[in-house]
Amino acid sequence: GKGNYRHFMEKELHEHPGVIGDTLRQYVSPASRAVALPPLPFDPRVVPRLTLSGCGSAFLAAHVGRYWIEALARIPCDADVASELRYREPPFAKGGAAILVSQSGETADTLAVLAMMKAQGQSVLSVVNVPESSMAREADTPLLTVAGPEIGVASTKAFSAQLSVLACLAIGMARARGTLDGGTEMRLTQALLAVPEAAAAILEQDEEIRALAHEITRARDVLFLGRGAMFPIAMEGALKLKELSYIHAEGYAAGEMKHGPIALIDEAVPVIALCPSGPLFEKTASNLQEAAARGGRIMAFCDAEGAAALSRFAERVVVLPSVDPFVAPILHAIPVQLLAYHVAVLKGTDVDQPRNLAKSVTVE
Ligand code: F6R
Repeated sequence: GKGNYRHFMEKELHEHPGVIGDTLRQYVSPASRAVALPPLPFDPRVVPRLTLSGCGSAFLAAHVGRYWIEALARIPCDADVASELRYREPPFAKGGAAILVSQSGETADTLAVLAMMKAQGQSVLSVVNVPESSMAREADTPLLTVAGPEIGVASTKAFSAQLSVLACLAIGMARARGTLDGGTEMRLTQALLAVPEAAAAILEQDEEIRALAHEITRARDVLFLGRGAMFPIAMEGALKLKELSYIHAEGYAAGEMKHGPIALIDEAVPVIALCPSGPLFEKTASNLQEAAARGGRIMAFCDAEGAAALSRFAERVVVLPSVDPFVAPILHAIPVQLLAYHVAVLKGTDVDQPRNLAKSVTVE
């Protein structure tokens, strides 16, 4: 049941800290507090290329995974939605592998990619939530997310559990390849283990995020912007807002603004910025300032370090807990999902069963 919550989605949003913790416990050894992966179906030291895929939010998790794996483990990666990948006919490298992400494990397009990958001699790892699902059974190795049943049609807690697994995978493969020094590995693992507590703190900011939702409710279009691994999170924010509140939203790479979308900017199009501290902060902030200079209303999610700089031009700044930049995508997913939830509640749409959508898309 929903317990004291109004919707399954609200309940599931509040399960973020718990499922992240439960999932990390599967892939981080409690004794050594180091990432400990089960045997993989490929050798990360020699795998020439990884292909990451999934649909919808699961694809966006895969997209974040690509940024992490490339940067930490230095393995060439490709990431594409399953509905495109299955018809793209890319050449697959001998000895290559696929990482397929799915909550249900039954999504038709992702299953078609799984079959294609196997036929192409690629080994297949799945990151999947339902242990009895086709994708858990048919992959060479399933890595389970420990999110429990997800009832709301929009994926929430499964998404952060997927990111948790992919982060462990990136660290574990990096260690195997020797691309991380011991100190960095320990820092990143500690950062991951600190996520549940930071996620719980974000859920305490519910009122502030609801106030932000009031600013969005009457908008016809909303832009979500981020750079690096925050770009897929910007797309996740836009996807959730579209499907739950029926407001048109776009997730864009902040640096692409000046190549077209900045023409959309005016006071009627709120810009939601995902701008945590880190190597890309200044670049993102300067893109946002350009949008503000053209009349854009900037609403930024950031941390205490960046708040002062963004407050100079942003209409609203939501200050999230300060975390290592590595785990910022996991944490920023929570407020953008919460924002979409509150906008939908304010608009009175059917939060748990958005129109035209099914929880598990078993047809193409
Ligand atoms: C968005 C959402 C969908 C699913 C997608 C994949 O909120 O829930 O985009 O992420 O349909 O579903 P699974 O993960 O079951 O393969």
